[in-house]
Amino acid sequence: MNKISRIRLGVNIDHVATLRNARGTFYPDPLKMVKLLEKLDVDGVTVHLREDRRHIIDSDVKRINNESHLPVNLEMAATEEMQKIATELIPNAVCLVPEKREERTTEGGLDVITEENKLKTFLDPIIQKNIRVSLFVSPDISQIEAASRVGANIIELNTGTFCDLLIENNKKEYLKEFEKLKEASVYGKNLGLEIHGGHGLTFESVKYIASIPEIRELNIGHFLISQAVFDGIEKTINTMRLEIDNSQKK
Ligand code: PXP
Repeated sequence: MNKISRIRLGVNIDHVATLRNARGTFYPDPLKMVKLLEKLDVDGVTVHLREDRRHIIDSDVKRINNESHLPVNLEMAATEEMQKIATELIPNAVCLVPEKREERTTEGGLDVITEENKLKTFLDPIIQKNIRVSLFVSPDISQIEAASRVGANIIELNTGTFCDLLIENNKKEYLKEFEKLKEASVYGKNLGLEIHGGHGLTFESVKYIASIPEIRELNIGHFLISQAVFDGIEKTINTMRLEIDNSQKK
């Protein structure tokens, strides 16, 4: 397949840091994972610097941003602290996500509509630095319209609900959610947004999401790092790559 038309695979490496932090040691080092990923069929790395620093910490982001040969996507909440970090480090992209301290992982898309004015002001210095802006949103048309209005280049559609329904084998509901993701992708692309997807993706769920023609990038973390425990990262990435490519061909 032509490399340009391929969906890009971004790997979220937060959970390498989770493993390290579980013991308070210096290994496994997320930067070491970046160096491995550079040799594989991967197009970018994502790190989420959470307010509570439960996995990735400031020095990880700094080292990875300085030393990665892959484009870095910095996931973060829309706070003053994160704005300062992003405008100092200037990663390739930032992806804004909602963040609650008590959640285990990001639990839903951003409420761009309610936060519209705040987000415009927040994004201004980031856009000035030519950092690409992605907003993590649910497949909801009015949120996508608001994302376009605040100046996002990209929307990352939350695939988490779909993935949960697929695991539950709730066919009626997962097909409904899949339709929403497809419609949202077309709608977003027509507004000039680049369409990404992420959250909860596995070898199974990626088959559906990668078949959506408008999707340009998928960001996958927890499953890949978990699977690498059994298969190693190279085999895991190669399998994921194959699933994505095969789904795109259909
Ligand atoms: N995209 C966004 C916006 C996320 O918040 C996350 C989780 O950090 C991911 C993708 C990756 O999700 P997962 O780890 O479930 O693959």
